[in-house]
Amino acid sequence: MQLVTTIEELKNAMAQIHAAGGSVGFVPTMGALHEGHLSLLKRSRNENKFSVCSIFVNPTQFNNQEDLVKYPRTLEADLQLIENYVDVVFAPSAEEVYREPATEQYDFGDLEKVMEGPSRPGHFNGVGIIVRRLLDWVQPDRAYFGEKDFQQIAIVKSLVHQCHIQSEIVPCPIVREPSGLALSSRNKRLSEDERAKAANIYRILRESTELNTTRVEDIQAFVAKEIAKVDILKLEYYAIVDGETLQPIRDLRDADSVVGCIAVYAGEVRLIDNIRYK
Ligand code: PAF
Repeated sequence: MQLVTTIEELKNAMAQIHAAGGSVGFVPTMGALHEGHLSLLKRSRNENKFSVCSIFVNPTQFNNQEDLVKYPRTLEADLQLIENYVDVVFAPSAEEVYREPATEQYDFGDLEKVMEGPSRPGHFNGVGIIVRRLLDWVQPDRAYFGEKDFQQIAIVKSLVHQCHIQSEIVPCPIVREPSGLALSSRNKRLSEDERAKAANIYRILRESTELNTTRVEDIQAFVAKEIAKVDILKLEYYAIVDGETLQPIRDLRDADSVVGCIAVYAGEVRLIDNIRYK
């Protein structure tokens, strides 16, 4: 495993890899790595000759300064966890990545007008900026993204389409704790009690797929009522959307692919998760 911290070092390492031939898989991350990230890296390793991972807490995608400051940073442990799974790790500083100021503006249309979009102004533009720069530097054949950030995958697919990027975007299933809690770097900020109670999120989502109704309003009401019963949880939104366009639907029969996406505060920690209805 080669650790590089500058864009020039990364480009040199990638030039050697591309010259050697064989496909390249890429897993972009913000560190505080867990089994979810490892599942992406394992998949990349199975499907490609070379694997590259980036570890960078990207400031331009944080609309909340406190969230940025409190985002867990565990580089040493991260490197140990992934050393047998990657060929190159890119762990730059913010100064290095934003040597060229972050002035790019992307338009993701209706995809960014729902769910995380209004809740986190500027977030998806920041994701677009960093993902495009990273894909440009790494030039992977495939890039792997976890489905916990369901909307992010749609945004990245749109970015790749708009910018004529050749990399294939590969969505990968959510990895969960035995309790059902979706793995997330932010879970590190939960107390033991909050962590145990946060497991109710997925239980409630699962139960909501078994209700005897196709009316979205009823399903949303069920989820809101059940979340409210757990003292430390505070619902921000529960959207049931067309899995392709991410636009809200009124009835589960209205689309071929239907996904419920939730944002919840567990104490002070904002968590997201999702479940497929169809
Ligand atoms: O999903 C994430 O961890 C981040 O949004 C990403 C894709 C690494 C961009 O900073």
